[in-house]
Amino acid sequence: MAVTAQRYACQECGATYGKWAGRCESCGGWNSVVEEMPRESAPKGLGHGAGRKVELVALQDGEAEALRRPTGIAEFDRVLGGGLVGGSAVLVAGDPGIGKSTILLQAAASLARSGATCLYVSGEEATGQVRLRANRLGLADAPVQLASATSVRDLLTTIDSGERPDVVIIDSIQTMYVDTLDSAPGSVAQVRSSAQELIRFAKRRGAVVVLVGHVTKEGQIAGPRVLEHMVDTVLYFEGERSHQFRILRAVKNRFGATDEIGVFEMTDRGLHEVANPSALFLSEHDRDTSGAAVFAGIEGSRPVLVEIQALVTPSPLATPRRAVVGWDSGRLAMIMAVLDARCGLALAGNDVYLNVAGGLRIGEPAADLAVAAALVSSQTGDLVPANTVVFGEIGLSGEVRQVSQINTRFKEAAKLGFTHAITPRRKRSESDGDEPASPPSVREIGQLADLVALFNAQD
Ligand code: TYD
Ligand code: MG
Repeated sequence: MAVTAQRYACQECGATYGKWAGRCESCGGWNSVVEEMPRESAPKGLGHGAGRKVELVALQDGEAEALRRPTGIAEFDRVLGGGLVGGSAVLVAGDPGIGKSTILLQAAASLARSGATCLYVSGEEATGQVRLRANRLGLADAPVQLASATSVRDLLTTIDSGERPDVVIIDSIQTMYVDTLDSAPGSVAQVRSSAQELIRFAKRRGAVVVLVGHVTKEGQIAGPRVLEHMVDTVLYFEGERSHQFRILRAVKNRFGATDEIGVFEMTDRGLHEVANPSALFLSEHDRDTSGAAVFAGIEGSRPVLVEIQALVTPSPLATPRRAVVGWDSGRLAMIMAVLDARCGLALAGNDVYLNVAGGLRIGEPAADLAVAAALVSSQTGDLVPANTVVFGEIGLSGEVRQVSQINTRFKEAAKLGFTHAITPRRKRSESDGDEPASPPSVREIGQLADLVALFNAQD
């Protein structure tokens, strides 16, 4: 290989170097200098006649909706916004061992059974191993084409010459390499170049390329975020390996909403869809423990009930401990400050732990009131009233603010047997859709202090 114009470039500021450096001298960033593809000697000027003519089309012509190919796994399709879109690239990222290969093999089998030509390329396992897994999942008879390969050049030669595949799954992008680069597979430059070649193939042939990406310990997709910008859709597969729940979340989607989640359960025969996540998240809900409140939330287009647990204990430490799982720690600090300043509930000398049960991560401010209820319940030892869901956003002055889609939340609560709700005050003039089938008995709260008073009234 001719090493004439080897270039290294900083991924942060774009400074270029003749050789690799651990630290970029220009912007001071560490580990940001990576090898780039040597440039084919570029034409001197970009003036008239130097390039090829690009085809121009009118906006109003052609089909508006690209071909969508449902995978047949409803929870997966929901996150994709209806299915895989032809000519697009999807990145499925997650911790090693979370179930990426499993879900994609299931999706490949389902697609192949519905008539799509589907190629599953493993760079990590031999085809025999993939077949073993397929057997275990009961998918051995699905007409999926398997390959064990790591060279992008070989792969592209194969798929360009044979029958045109509709869907190509690359498991994983970190094992792929292009032979024009010297760096090892998994390095930023290799990951990026391999992805680039595969994505170019997808666009050119109208195929779907699904890339599997392992996430590093720091929670980044190896190849600092480079992949996220290159693909059309980024899905994160999350969950605790020790739990059976898995959540597929869209963090970027050019063809759909980004707040949708798909919920799965890992079983000994693969991933099963969970059509009713609320029942799953509340399956271990104990009605007789203080410090627990049930939040009626909305994830994407669907209501989800989850239990929020808080533990408040006197701290022996000068700086008390705060630990949060599944919720924003800054938001917890804010709610504690409001409880202190507006309701006189001093939590400062306590260790505070907050957990969203079941491994779900909540981003909705509507959970504020449920978090506050769990905190007050743990602090006072009094239970949140039985069979009650809680939601509402809290403002800095201690006011409880309105949230959207109240009736959707009520309906889900009623479906799961909750008869009471603690909610923000509703403006009567506003109607938001039809009345719920069986309206729960609602206690509307205008100030956070009213919530604290609810607990005091129990004594
Ligand atoms: P895998 O899909 O290989 O994870 P990834 O590709 O994200 O690294 O899943 C690995 C884990 O899933 C492994 O620990 C075993 C478990 N598993 C099951 O529990 N049931 C199954 O049917 C399969 C195939 C795997
Ligand atoms: Mg895997």
